[in-house]
Amino acid sequence: MKGNYMTTKEIVLTGDRPTGKLHLGHYVGSLKNRVHLQANSQNKLFVMIADQQALTDHAKDPEKIRKSLYDVALDYLAVGLDPKLATLFVQSQIPELAELTMYYMNLVSIARLHRNPTVKTEIEQKGYGGSVPTGFFVYPISQASDITAFKAMKVPVGNDQKPMIEQTREIVRSFNYTYQTNVLVEPKGLYPDNEAAGRLPGLDGNTKMSKSLNNGIFLADDANTLQKKVMSMYTDPNHVRVEDPGQIEENMVFHYLDVFGRAEDFKQIQAMKEHYQHGGLGDVKVKRYLLEILNRELEPIRKKREMYAQDLGEITRILKKGSKQAQAVVAQTLSEVKTAMGINYFS
Ligand code: TRP
Repeated sequence: MKGNYMTTKEIVLTGDRPTGKLHLGHYVGSLKNRVHLQANSQNKLFVMIADQQALTDHAKDPEKIRKSLYDVALDYLAVGLDPKLATLFVQSQIPELAELTMYYMNLVSIARLHRNPTVKTEIEQKGYGGSVPTGFFVYPISQASDITAFKAMKVPVGNDQKPMIEQTREIVRSFNYTYQTNVLVEPKGLYPDNEAAGRLPGLDGNTKMSKSLNNGIFLADDANTLQKKVMSMYTDPNHVRVEDPGQIEENMVFHYLDVFGRAEDFKQIQAMKEHYQHGGLGDVKVKRYLLEILNRELEPIRKKREMYAQDLGEITRILKKGSKQAQAVVAQTLSEVKTAMGINYFS
């Protein structure tokens, strides 16, 4: 790309660490919204597979990251992200992002990094003790590069990413002030607007669906697996006999019905809730109904995923092309950054 990267569209950027297949929590919490954002011609959507960020805590397992990169790309395409509308790309294929990180690191203190609550929690969960990898510790700075390199104005992410957006905004202000420029753009986070979608609980009723808790439904699960998982879902432990009155609160089957039911299902769901609370409605019947509703949503996604999985060469081509387009944008921003800093010595 020559000259300034100029567009009247709003730049939207988001991404995922490729550490496994995407699940229903990702689907309701972010993927559906991305497809929605992509459909609005006011937006230009960039979706990044953050393999470098994934490597910050998986340095010894690059094979897992490589495999997950394809899984995540298949999940993206299966839910309807369209490479003609959205640029799908791979972080590590854009070395300019790391260069940008070098310059930003000088604007952030170690004390500031220590205050990031999400990183703090992750460090505890991973049990690093005193041996936190440096790359992991500074990933919020690298994430600021991901965002600012595209001059993204909107960053749709989960609530746990708020500290990264805040850090990015600070870096932008600091950079623009230090070098008396307006090259960098302060982004805004777009967060899930309802709690139910923002945090889909797991099959076992745990507050979060997550790969490590082994309580998730994956977009790639086949019909059989889905059935087994739905039949194993946590309901009301005190609802022993069919005729017993049951609880719908904290009952995952009803929770999922609320999340995945469409307007035309509401009457039926309401009737089932009343019947269940009153007694006389068995768990298996409600689970069968949920299975129907989930299959309606997931069957087209599954089919599309299988189709794309037949031709991984095509996935490579899509990611390669997207990465090339993304790189042109990043190279332009990096050049502006170096000019603002007065270090573009030879051009
Ligand atoms: N940290 C994000 C996550 O764990 C992934 C990510 C990396 C990201 N770079 C980004 C998200 C830039 C939004 C914008 O899910």
